Amino acid sequence: MKTAIVYASVHHGNTKKIVDEIAKDQNVDLVDATQVKEKDLTEYDAIGFASGIYYGKFHQAVLNFAAVNLPQEKKVFLICTHGGSAAFQSIETILEGKHADLIGKFSCKGYDTYGPFKLVGGIAKGHPDEKDLTAAVEFYKGITK
Ligand SMILES: Cc1cc2nc3c(=O)[nH]c(=O)nc-3n(C[C@H](O)[C@H](O)[C@H](O)COP(=O)(O)O)c2cc1C
Repeated sequence: MKTAIVYASVHHGNTKKIVDEIAKDQNVDLVDATQVKEKDLTEYDAIGFASGIYYGKFHQAVLNFAAVNLPQEKKVFLICTHGGSAAFQSIETILEGKHADLIGKFSCKGYDTYGPFKLVGGIAKGHPDEKDLTAAVEFYKGITK
């Protein structure tokens, strides 16, 4: 199975830790949506979109990338890291328009020092941790086997 994961990880690299761990031992092409704006995704069997949650949404670069580059009717999975709670709606709206086949969603906490949380040393410190990384790899293996 040929897979690409398109990601944005701009706060503490939390989401990057997750996608790097998945890509380590799997046949996965990683695409940083903050750097790459266009890519032909037709050759991939499955496409992942991964992001931190910023103001309740996936990063705008990932949303734009999906809107521009995701072909119709692809198998898609979603990954997010968050300080508070997971939020997939922003990307799911785009997937609906592309008639994507959503094969799985994974989320875990990610260290967050945004705004007032900075004053208390941040929340979700230490995340993603080893357990989160293992769970992410298991998630990936489960949906692509
Ligand atoms: C500007 C900004 C806004 C954020 N908004 C939210 C939010 O609405 N909900 C939430 O759960 N976490 C929020 N967070 C926390 C991030 O989602 C969390 O730290 C995430 O793991 C960051 O991923 P990254 O290090 O890959 O960028 C926000 C962080 C920043 C910097």
